Amino acid sequence: MRIGSILENQNIEKRITITPEIVKKYTSLGIEVCLIENYGSHLGIKDEQYKDIGVKILNDENEVLNSSDIIVQLGILSDDKIFKMNENQTFIGVLNPYNNKAKLEKLAEKKINLFSLELLPRITRAQSMDILSSQANLAGYKAVIESFASFEKAIPMMMTAAGTVPAAKVLVVGAGVAGLQAIATAKRMGAIVFATDVRMASKEQVESLGGKFLTVEGSENLETEGGYAKEASDDFKKKQEELLSETLKKIDIVICTALIPGKKAPLIIKDNMIKNMQAGSVIYDLAAIQGGNTSFTEVDKIIDKNGVKIMGESNILNKLPISSSNLYAKNMFNFIDNLFDKDSKKININLEDEIIEKTLIK
Ligand code: NAI
Repeated sequence: MRIGSILENQNIEKRITITPEIVKKYTSLGIEVCLIENYGSHLGIKDEQYKDIGVKILNDENEVLNSSDIIVQLGILSDDKIFKMNENQTFIGVLNPYNNKAKLEKLAEKKINLFSLELLPRITRAQSMDILSSQANLAGYKAVIESFASFEKAIPMMMTAAGTVPAAKVLVVGAGVAGLQAIATAKRMGAIVFATDVRMASKEQVESLGGKFLTVEGSENLETEGGYAKEASDDFKKKQEELLSETLKKIDIVICTALIPGKKAPLIIKDNMIKNMQAGSVIYDLAAIQGGNTSFTEVDKIIDKNGVKIMGESNILNKLPISSSNLYAKNMFNFIDNLFDKDSKKININLEDEIIEKTLIK
């Protein structure tokens, strides 16, 4: 059994799926690892480092793809590569099934086993494989760092002989995995942190991190059975708008993370609210790629509206490629460990296992 990986499109993705640390774990399962040359060199990992731990390094991408039983990547491969895959080969990654539906169906018809890790069920057993959580956690942290770096005042309160510097006030919109890490990071750096969410379960989590939860008056609890957010009613949206309009006048930095699975990101910070914010304030929109939580968000641009900077990126994790690769590689290994039958040394697509059944593209 051999597992292989090639370089992602370097213009959009710096993360890698097989780190040296994880090679040893595959080897101990009896799985051979095969990589394209210079696989990790952009992250300072030399081919020699991989070779020393038994990785086969090839200089032809097609050879890596053809000779591997399992191919692991971040994103789906381009048509010219993925349509060359053969029956019974397995491809695992973040396949974005909502946008790549037709392509994935064609591949499934070719009897290529496709697993998409963003479809993992959010159950306790799947936590160690949960790429959405591991990556959102780092994104929440980095959004705070990026926005603080663009903010032209100090973050913590400082009492000096020359006078007092007030602490910056941060609002986190959406208190899921990314939002909670943003709250924790901003608190550690000395900011006063407020947060809001449509799921009432998040109130306690926000407060346990030292944040102040802003409850929308008379709010219904908009949580699905799976723990995700439902789309808010017009009445809720109106009340949320009133609450946030007032709050935003005093806020220095906003971190937006609000998402509804499978839908465009909700528009929460509207143009009239931004007009009332103080010049010098910063909004970092982590929902940018899903349409953004503000009226002005543009992917990979910094927009200036009356002195308020609004920013959002297509892939903030490219700014933390080593940490995010390390966690992604571990998530991937844990998924394969569950898929691999240790006796026959083959993968076993056991559809009675919820993790396998939910992630398999049929
Ligand atoms: P997400 O990335 O889908 O959304 C981010 C946050 O935005 C959510 O908290 C959501 O409620 C909030 N939101 C949506 N619309 C909003 C609006 N109009 N205004 C304000 N906030 C809004 O969420 P994420 O981070 O994936 O977490 C979703 C749930 O899944 C949470 O309950 C989390 O604890 C749970 N979870 C469970 C795991 C497990 O058991 N394996 C692993 C990770 C998360």
